[in-house]
Amino acid sequence: MKSVVLQSYNRNIIRAMLGLKVEEVSLPDIRDDELLIKVHAAPVNPSDIAFIQGNYNIVKTLPAIPGFEASGIVIDAGKKSSKYIGSKVSCFVQSDGSGTWAEFVVANVEDIILIKDGMDMDQAACLTVNPFTAYGMFDIAIQYESRAIIQNAAGGQVAAFMRKMAMNNGVEVIDIVRKQASATTLEKEGAKYVLVETEDNFIDRLGELSKELGASVAYDAVGGELSGLMFNALINDSELVVYGGLSGKPIADVNIMDVIFNNKIISGFNLMDWKSEISEDDFLRISNEIQDGFMSGIYNTSIRGISSLEEIVAGLRSYISDMSSGKLLIKP
Ligand SMILES: NC(=O)c1ccc[n+]([C@@H]2O[C@H](COP(=O)([O-])OP(=O)(O)OC[C@H]3O[C@@H](n4cnc5c(N)ncnc54)[C@H](OP(=O)(O)O)[C@@H]3O)[C@@H](O)[C@H]2O)c1
Repeated sequence: MKSVVLQSYNRNIIRAMLGLKVEEVSLPDIRDDELLIKVHAAPVNPSDIAFIQGNYNIVKTLPAIPGFEASGIVIDAGKKSSKYIGSKVSCFVQSDGSGTWAEFVVANVEDIILIKDGMDMDQAACLTVNPFTAYGMFDIAIQYESRAIIQNAAGGQVAAFMRKMAMNNGVEVIDIVRKQASATTLEKEGAKYVLVETEDNFIDRLGELSKELGASVAYDAVGGELSGLMFNALINDSELVVYGGLSGKPIADVNIMDVIFNNKIISGFNLMDWKSEISEDDFLRISNEIQDGFMSGIYNTSIRGISSLEEIVAGLRSYISDMSSGKLLIKP
């Protein structure tokens, strides 16, 4: 099969991208509880960029096939899983021997979602990670009965799902972006409180808005000083949920007094941990709810364009130059 292959990890993103080659590799073997999926589409996510740089918590044996999620059709299965042959699925794959930026991928039956009739297969390619991450994270705001939330990387797709969930639950959102152009786009889409992190009065505005709206949960995908600014802006009895480290910097400038005296906490969110903590029935219910949301037009992953396996380097360049323009889909 044809596949993108990573020859070596490189912290320099340009060198890491240029190290990606398209090669013919043998079809992976499948075990009893595994499925062979013909890939329809696979997105590029920030975790893929971190992976090829060797900066992610998954490190595969090289040469490796990148890509952690995809949609496709099951064309073969191990002995215990033959009932899935012919099914449309969305899959999440972190195993050493496989990856989704290829014509075929092997997934464990536990790591697939059956796709409902009527669900768009491009949207299904981006189903297993971001919508569930937003669902799991928004539940924290519900537990807090928070009247408002703060989030950074607000031009991204997780943040877009969070805005929809907040709107559906009557929760206000303070969105933080790093570029004025992203702020303009979000405002056109109806976002009410958008702040640009480089604006002169950013810290004051963030604090004022947070108090006025009653923000008790903040979601941080960036790290660095911005984490501390968001934490410090939250009202008392509140939580900063860290779920990404896009700046590559450690969390900084957290007000110690808030931690000690004002019941403000910092936590991490990891989709895999969240998934392992909920029952299969709950996961199925949430999956149905999310897929129904896609089919009724409530949810949508914004897609910037399609790339073939051969166009991977140009596609990645375009994605990292402006991540807020939506996901790049790789179609073999
Ligand atoms: N913990 C988990 O379980 C989990 C699950 C899913 C996703 N995530 C994380 O969630 C984050 C967002 O993912 P996504 O799929 O929503 O991303 P995405 O749609 O690809 O968009 C990324 C967004 O982050 C912004 N950004 C990138 N680097 C930044 C920086 N240094 N400072 C400020 N903003 C920056 C981009 O803005 P520009 O347009 O300005 O580039 C863009 O709006 C990622 O860190 C991802 O790894 C975590």
